[in-house]
Amino acid sequence: MDNHDQTIKDFGEQWLRYCDNEGFYGSLELFSDILSPFLTPDEINNCRVAEIGSGTGRIVNMLLKTGAEHIVAVEPSVAFEVLCRNIAEPERVTCLKITGDQLPPYGDLDYIFSIGVLHHVEDPDPVVKAVYKALRPGGRFLVWLYGKERNRLYLALLQPLRGLSKHLPHSLLAALVEIIYLPSVVYLGLCRRFPLPMQGYLLSVFEKMSPRKRRLIIYDQLNPTYAKYYTRLEAEKLLMANKFGNVLVHHRHGYSWTVIGTKPLS
Ligand SMILES: C[S@@+](CC[C@H](N)C(=O)[O-])C[C@H]1O[C@@H](n2cnc3c(N)ncnc32)[C@H](O)[C@@H]1O
Repeated sequence: MDNHDQTIKDFGEQWLRYCDNEGFYGSLELFSDILSPFLTPDEINNCRVAEIGSGTGRIVNMLLKTGAEHIVAVEPSVAFEVLCRNIAEPERVTCLKITGDQLPPYGDLDYIFSIGVLHHVEDPDPVVKAVYKALRPGGRFLVWLYGKERNRLYLALLQPLRGLSKHLPHSLLAALVEIIYLPSVVYLGLCRRFPLPMQGYLLSVFEKMSPRKRRLIIYDQLNPTYAKYYTRLEAEKLLMANKFGNVLVHHRHGYSWTVIGTKPLS
């Protein structure tokens, strides 16, 4: 199995085990943070939208809360069944068990979102091209990606560990997560007092998660076969090289990239 199919399989198995979207992890407060500074939830009200790589459907349910008129949710893994089960208002959602590059060329969508997905796709260009075709002229694509800059120390620790952890069966990976959990909480405590690396993310996001979701976040870093950490330039190029205009990049909490691009009017 190649990296692409194996990564989808990894996520399918992950979401069958971590299938709920409780608390801050599934909240509109977190969605506002993800969209900031480019969009507010209000701007999505009454819009036709899609999400690429929906997992357990937390972003789809956030989109429902914004008042989006209709949502296309794309999820290729076996987690598709979890997605369908978790959706709060199924009549406003079309679920498709396809990869992002197979998104139908609707041509009338106002916004498309892909949150934490494209950094797990080895060749994301076909997905971005499909998104472009599915948007209306003037429609916008918002992507959230792992960042490389200011994560050098974290990546120096993570990358060697991932070399092992991505091969572990669930029981051993869950045991490794337990070992890492306590030091991560101690580090979080230190971040409240000192300006340490990743402080912005830890205090604005990680701290607000329940203990179960904090464990999921650690698991999610260690589990997938393929994960790329983007430089600012790579993040920007991903949309610019695929015909998007007015591409803007935000360094979210100093550790990741929120990128938005617009399909030109003509
Ligand atoms: C980290 S999860 C993010 C899920 C969701 N967006 C969220 O934020 O909760 C990445 C998801 O992307 C999906 N995925 C992986 N490769 C994909 C592809 N080529 N096209 C669409 N989705 C893909 C995985 O199956 C997984 O559910």
